[in-house]
Amino acid sequence: MLGVAVLGLGRIGPTHARVVSQADGVELKAVAEMDEAKLGSVVDGLSGVTGYGEYRDALARDDVQVVVICLPHWLHEQAAIDAAEAGKHIFIEKPLAISVAGCDRIIEAARQNNVTLMPAHTQRYYPVVTRAKEILDSGELGELIMAVDTWYKPLKPDARPPWMLERKMGGGMALMDGVHLIDRMLWIFGADVESVSASVGNPVYPEVPADDTSMAFMRWRNGKVATVSRIAYRTGVTSYGADFFCTNGQVRFRIAYGGQGTTSVWVGKNEEYTEVDVPQFNSLERQFAEFVQALQEGHEPPITAAHGRQVIEVMEAMDRSSETGREVLF
Ligand SMILES: NC(=O)c1ccc[n+]([C@@H]2O[C@H](COP(=O)([O-])OP(=O)(O)OC[C@H]3O[C@@H](n4cnc5c(N)ncnc54)[C@H](O)[C@@H]3O)[C@@H](O)[C@H]2O)c1
Repeated sequence: MLGVAVLGLGRIGPTHARVVSQADGVELKAVAEMDEAKLGSVVDGLSGVTGYGEYRDALARDDVQVVVICLPHWLHEQAAIDAAEAGKHIFIEKPLAISVAGCDRIIEAARQNNVTLMPAHTQRYYPVVTRAKEILDSGELGELIMAVDTWYKPLKPDARPPWMLERKMGGGMALMDGVHLIDRMLWIFGADVESVSASVGNPVYPEVPADDTSMAFMRWRNGKVATVSRIAYRTGVTSYGADFFCTNGQVRFRIAYGGQGTTSVWVGKNEEYTEVDVPQFNSLERQFAEFVQALQEGHEPPITAAHGRQVIEVMEAMDRSSETGREVLF
């Protein structure tokens, strides 16, 4: 049994705590959250779990071998380095860090302390995303050529913690949402990206010092291409999903978000979309189970730290392209 501590119990942390408390091969020993009310509501619902107000105190426990980091983006780097230096294996919510330099420092700390490090990119475990990739990988639609991936949603700044609205703190929709789209494209098309061209900015909320909008064109060395577009609007209509075009047909998935839209996968052929079966499972549970299995079997986690770093490398290239008005080559 591996002892686990969940660090940060804001929007997503309580769900991770539940997942860990029900997972095989691990035991939730501790949770950490500086907000007393949030801490109390999680600790009260779990037996045998100790609550701490500061994440570092949970790292001092000898019976904790694994941490699940659900802290604000600006704290990811420090918390991951602290966890590595305390000898804990690390499962860290996306993004791995808010800069490539920060990713490198975390990766080096994990290497030096011989701990496993996995950035969580839960959305690739969404059943519709997994199913779409299965269809693409099966070859039944021929060769994958290009993709159009989009996420349109409201920003709702009043409903967000202050750090999410400040780029220096890791706020903005690139680090919050954009990383999901980049992760997906790198996962499906591969890591061999040749170039990125993008426009990134905050035209919708110029008073918020963080990006709300981005459109990017990605090109791979094998000639495949994708566009990733997202906007966090003041008013509009939510839409989330991707279309993939192959030499012998199309596949598309859509994800309901904020109570809007439908979640499903369709194959497009002969001027018609046909909905396909999608086996259901819990994405967070599956992702964490695969991480635990990697620890137990002593192999690389299903999502590597190098991948988490590349997601941020592509995001930084998008920023650079937007600033210079030029394509960025890798
Ligand atoms: N995979 C997804 O779909 C998904 C969804 C939401 C959030 N996330 C990710 O999860 C992470 C957390 O996001 P969130 O929305 O839950 O943020 P949040 O701000 O709601 O939660 C972070 C919590 O950390 C606590 N905290 C800050 N400093 C602390 C410290 N020193 N010690 C203990 N607690 C401390 C804060 O009080 C806060 O409650 C981010 O990386 C985010 O991108 C992922």
